[in-house]
Amino acid sequence: MSDVFVIDHPLIQHKLTLIRNKHTGPKEFRELVKEVTTLMAYEVTRDLPLEDVEIETPIKKAKFKMIAGKKIGVVPILRAGLGMLEGVLKLTPTAKVGHVGLYRDPDTLEPVEYYCKLPTDITERDLIVVDPMLATGGSATAAINFVKERNPRSIKFMCLIAAPEGVKKVQKHHPDVDIYTAAVDEKLNDHAYIVPGLGDAGDRLYGTK
Ligand code: PRP
Ligand code: URA
Repeated sequence: MSDVFVIDHPLIQHKLTLIRNKHTGPKEFRELVKEVTTLMAYEVTRDLPLEDVEIETPIKKAKFKMIAGKKIGVVPILRAGLGMLEGVLKLTPTAKVGHVGLYRDPDTLEPVEYYCKLPTDITERDLIVVDPMLATGGSATAAINFVKERNPRSIKFMCLIAAPEGVKKVQKHHPDVDIYTAAVDEKLNDHAYIVPGLGDAGDRLYGTK
């Protein structure tokens, strides 16, 4: 069974409350999503392996730690996942980026795929799949299915708000994928929106409603 890490640093909780507020407009919403993602990425990358390297300080030669050439891939689930991309890249600037396009059919609530483009060397990469919302878990489960077909070295899933239903679904279908979230909310409503949540992440990021 995979782990669920709730990253609830006070700065993250504070900024997430601003994100949830319906009076927060798209410009501020985008900025806050990026900031929270960067803060979360600090924890998501906590297990990066280090290696000893010798450098010369102005005083003497000595061995110090650096990240061991780790190859990371970031995979935003379009479209709302794009709002988190820059936040991760700020800490992992050499990561390659894959895109999976999915939308949730409003009637069936099933994910519909419309795009998938992943780095060619994905088998050598540890992937972080990002999407602000883990609601029913249908989109995350389908996106992880697509990337697994290409055999990445490992996969983590990172979101801002998860519903218990979505966590359960991802854990059931992908017991090898750890979930990192800033909050686990109460439940889903009749339209499968997270309660209390933040509303429709894509619409709030891009002002489409
Ligand atoms: C939202 C969100 C997730 C999905 C979560 O995307 O960004 O991808 O819903 O719901 P689920 O867990 O029930 O699948 P949406 O389908 O609204 O598409 P968009 O990002 O293009 O707006
Ligand atoms: N997608 C969203 O954007 N928000 C939700 O609450 C559920 C799915």
